[in-house]
Amino acid sequence: MYINPFNSPTEPEKRKAKMSSEFVVTSLESRILTIRLNRADKKNALTSAMYTALRVALEEAAANAEVRVVLFTGSDGVFCSGNDLQDFLELAGDIQETPVARFLRTLSVFPKPVVAAVEGPAIGIGTTLLLHCDLVYAARGARLQLPFASLGLCPEFASSYLLPRILGHVRAAELLMLGDPFTAEKALEYGLVNEVLEPAELAARALSQAQRLATQAPEALRTTKMLMKRFNGESLRESIHVEMGHFGELLKGEELKEAVSAFRAKRKPDFSRFD
Ligand code: COA
Repeated sequence: MYINPFNSPTEPEKRKAKMSSEFVVTSLESRILTIRLNRADKKNALTSAMYTALRVALEEAAANAEVRVVLFTGSDGVFCSGNDLQDFLELAGDIQETPVARFLRTLSVFPKPVVAAVEGPAIGIGTTLLLHCDLVYAARGARLQLPFASLGLCPEFASSYLLPRILGHVRAAELLMLGDPFTAEKALEYGLVNEVLEPAELAARALSQAQRLATQAPEALRTTKMLMKRFNGESLRESIHVEMGHFGELLKGEELKEAVSAFRAKRKPDFSRFD
């Protein structure tokens, strides 16, 4: 079933999103909506409340003619350390209706241009969300990583569909199965980012590209984005849905519990006892 992610947010959702607004800071200037992840003490790990805030910000941006471009940034030299690991363990209810799943659907069909400025760690969804942005700029020293399997989980955000198509199977498999961090330069070589910049130049470059998009003809840009994405539309939706189903099953498993205890204890996970 296709769920229209652009139904207006409900009042309780807006209130919940506001509650986490200190962690997801939005500002609208010169028709660019900057969405800044701002939970630096936890390396911008995303909680359910933050996903709701992100989704509501995107829904409002889609409906607001004043917004022509969305710019994602991190803070304090960190883009995003992925889903909050504690939150993973507490996810309950229908996985397809969790705040994370709703955010994935919303960003994957967001109709306006999206730019990302990536500095420091970009882990898990910190990397997979880049696959749904239009322009991605990364600072030298950025560290991307897709450690789903190493956490006892599986790919999300259509990364199991998109990465083999962008990189080829073996390179995608290396990133998704071994989960090693990779550099901004490697991401550039792989076609996952547009440009690698010195950290001091990152914000200005991403903003100036966003400003250029904000002065382009808006309907022409939206049409261009729609045309580039339309062949993938059904596959993306299906992939997000199927991945989420498997992800939900793995979330209940012992492999994730072992990986999270290992993270907390700052040791390597030991999966030797699992079949
Ligand atoms: N979920 C919850 N808390 C997280 C987190 C996450 N994904 N990433 C970092 N944190 C917390 C740490 O637990 C720590 O909290 P504490 O100060 O209360 O102990 C704080 O953020 C700082 O993290 P720390 O590991 O000490 O910083 P670092 O600079 O040494 O390493 C990272 C930063 C991002 C490389 C490392 O924290 C990391 O690998 N995080 C987990 C990434 C991950 O597996 N994400 C899930 C992807 S699906």
